[in-house]
This record gives sequence, C-alpha cells and structure tokens, in this order.
Amino acid sequence: MSKATELILSNNNLKEKDDEIELESKQYNDLLTIYGLAMNQVVNTATNIKNRLNEIYNYNLIEKIDCRVKSKDSILRKMDKKDIPFTYQAMVKYVDDIAGVRIICPLQDDVLLVKEVIKNMPNIHVIQEKDYITTPKKSGYSAYHLIVETPLTINTETVIMKVEIQIRTVAMDFWAEMEHDIRYKNKTNKQLTKTESKKLTWYAKKLEKLQEKMVRLYRKQEDNTTMVNY
Ligand code: GTP
Ligand code: MG
Repeated sequence: MSKATELILSNNNLKEKDDEIELESKQYNDLLTIYGLAMNQVVNTATNIKNRLNEIYNYNLIEKIDCRVKSKDSILRKMDKKDIPFTYQAMVKYVDDIAGVRIICPLQDDVLLVKEVIKNMPNIHVIQEKDYITTPKKSGYSAYHLIVETPLTINTETVIMKVEIQIRTVAMDFWAEMEHDIRYKNKTNKQLTKTESKKLTWYAKKLEKLQEKMVRLYRKQEDNTTMVNY
C-alpha cells in the first residue's frame, strides 16, 4: 500500500508529524490518483441516478455530468490563499474540492430532486450542504453544493474520500462559466464596475427564468408566469 493511501486511511486520526507536500513526488501523484478514483465512483453513482430517473420520467432530469480533479496549481493557490499549511494532512482535511463532480439539470426543481436522491444513496454521506437555490449568492450564482464522503475500496482497504458535488441548471452553468471568465480571465484584469456586476446578477435571474419557460414548454408542464414580465 502506498504512503498516500496510508495517509488517507488515517484521515480522521491524522498522524502527529506533518509531511510537507512535494509537488513531483509519487506520494502526491498517488494521492491525487485516489481522489480521481473517488470522483469516478461518484460519477458512476450520478450516472445510475440519471438513467433511473430517465426511466421513471421519460425525459432527462440530469442533462450532463462533468468532473475534474483539481490541478496541482489550483490546490497550491487555494491553500496559499486560505493560509493552509502545505502538508498532506492539512490538504486532506481542509481542501474539500480536490475531487469535483458537477451535475447539470434542466430545471431548479430537478436540481432539488436530484440532490435528495443523492443524499439517500448508500455510498454517499453528506457532510456539508449549501443551498444557493433558495438563497442565491450576491453575484447571482445559484446551485446546490454538497460536500460528501464516499467509501472507496482499494485492493482490500477501504478509505473514506471527500468529493464536492455541485448541482446546477444548464442556464446557471452557462452563466457561471461566463461570469468566471469575465471576472478572472479578462485580459485587462480590471475589477468589474458596480454596473457590470449588477448586470451580471440581473442576467442570472433572467437566464434562469427563460430557460425554465422553455423546458416547461417542452415538458408540457404548467407555467404560471405571464409573458408580460419578459
Ligand atoms: P471555495 O471552496 O474556497 O471556493 O469557497 P466556498 O467553499 O465558500 O465556496 P462555495 O461552496 O460557495 O463555492 C465553491 C465553488 O462554487 C467555486 O469554486 C465555483 O465553482 C462555484 N461558485 C461559487 N460562487 C460562484 C460565483 O459567484 N460565480 C461562479 N462563476 N462560480 C461560483
Ligand atoms: Mg468550497
């Protein structure tokens, strides 16, 4: 068994000595590989849920499932920003989104249903929930975030791994990608003006509503809002 696995085994009972992360070491690569396996396990669970719900409803409540293991650079940046000591122990304990799964649904109602199904899966234990559907962020961002633990069996050992699951709508996924690019990747690196930020928040609401209308039209579901507001 590699040292990385050993480390995760003692996850909740961290070793007394803190081992500093060596970026190019086998230990670090192994650890990230194990996060990748945990991520794949959650993707498989989400895929099963997608297929099952499709059988029941006859349309997709889950449109798409994305996943990624956080890059070494991003992990480093996050730990630096949050003043987390650069050790394996601290990383496993404090960085919740090394393994990330994103589930994209057509409607906010679907997001809420899917999160309930996920919460009831036997191999998933929710340790933190953030409901930005009921209360969107000031930026306009809305989604349902779960930090979960999933038991992963490697050879004969079972390790408990943390995975972040973000569940959001197609419209919000589009908005979030754009907003992220506008905020962080604009070449001038200028801060957004108040008006620009306000516009983004407003677009988030509008996009969500318009998408909702189109999906309900497709599903022939009742839509109580009137055209006047749009
Ligand atoms: P970090 O995990 O450090 O980012 O902080 P946190 O745990 O307080 O964050 P939260 O759970 O609220 O959000 C984590 C992730 O959600 C981010 O990494 C983004 O992927 C996404 N997210 C949250 N807010 C926004 C937002 O305003 N805009 C965009 N584009 N994405 C967001
Ligand atoms: Mg987080």
